[in-house]
Amino acid sequence: MNDAARITVQGAVPYDVVVGRHLLGELPALIGPDARKVLVIHPAALSTTADVLQEDLRASGYDAYVAEVPDAEEAKTAQVAAFLWGLLGQLDFTRTDAIVGVGGGATTDLAGFVAATWLRGIRVVQVPTTLLAMVDAAVGGKTGINTAEGKNLVGAFHPPAGVLCDLASLESLDRWDLVAGLAEVVKTGFIADPRILELVEEHADALRGWAGAEAAPETWAVLAELIERSVRVKAAVVGEDLKEAGLREILNYGHTLGHAIELTERYQWRHGAAVSVGMVFAAELGRMAGKLPDDVVDRHRAILTSLGLPVSYRGDKWDQLLSAMRRDKKSRGDLLRFVVLDDVAQPTRLEGPDPALLVAAYAEVAKEPPTGGPGTPVQLTLG
Ligand code: GLY
Repeated sequence: MNDAARITVQGAVPYDVVVGRHLLGELPALIGPDARKVLVIHPAALSTTADVLQEDLRASGYDAYVAEVPDAEEAKTAQVAAFLWGLLGQLDFTRTDAIVGVGGGATTDLAGFVAATWLRGIRVVQVPTTLLAMVDAAVGGKTGINTAEGKNLVGAFHPPAGVLCDLASLESLDRWDLVAGLAEVVKTGFIADPRILELVEEHADALRGWAGAEAAPETWAVLAELIERSVRVKAAVVGEDLKEAGLREILNYGHTLGHAIELTERYQWRHGAAVSVGMVFAAELGRMAGKLPDDVVDRHRAILTSLGLPVSYRGDKWDQLLSAMRRDKKSRGDLLRFVVLDDVAQPTRLEGPDPALLVAAYAEVAKEPPTGGPGTPVQLTLG
């Protein structure tokens, strides 16, 4: 095969995440010989890709079908899941058959959830097409849908049978979607891999100005390395702790405040933008809790700002954010839990911090005027 990287995620049934270009020919090997039927789940924007996959799968001897689902979070509803269950029933999908999820994190979450629940679990191969899905959503087996009360409240841990990260799909990715995805990459750097931080620092301008198919070969190479490194970290973490009993929590660095901002903004902010502010808050908490050196906190602001990501948020929103954090599904009982750093690549847990510490850390986040608005990666571009 070409120069694709193959990263194995350990667990009850190990699987590979393949990172490279033009990998779709790999799909049959990941689906495996036992499946006869395959359902390819995709949003409208990826109809052409899904049709190509269907033809390839048919040529490889499968009965392949496609199912179009709504775009982005609109896909993650009980109604859409029920529509897919209906389809699987009408097509007589059995335990050995398989699902392929092609799209961003919402599509892969939905496809994984439907695979997890159909006949108590059938194979799913994920084909993430956004940076965020490649480095986070599609790897690690978290699947789920939303309810009216909140995001990802219904779901299952259901590791995929394989993940194909085809870099070619990033050629047409919106520049700010790429930048927002980089927030998770930077998170991975801070919690586990300092080389990621150096690479982003060296290439921030080119990454921030992501030119897709027109991007320089060097930028593509850097992006490929960043994806590979991020996936390696995630693979190592979820390989050890699939069900978030301990280690996996480190992947939530920046997410406690980040989720609260997303809720406060009624999910009109990109996830990565909210996590960016959340990381600055977590860094301030780490500093004030006593360990994280000032220069590492400064480095958070410098790297995120160099990518165009926001590092501040509205001072008047603290009470709302605090109550949202208390309701976060990751909190246990009344106790607020944060991932903080003692240093780069030294994550630790901060449980039930002194409320005064939280207020002081937030004051640092609210000191600067909030960043955002048109021409930034904050606001979702709604199609
Ligand atoms: N997105 C965090 C996790 O997969 O655990």
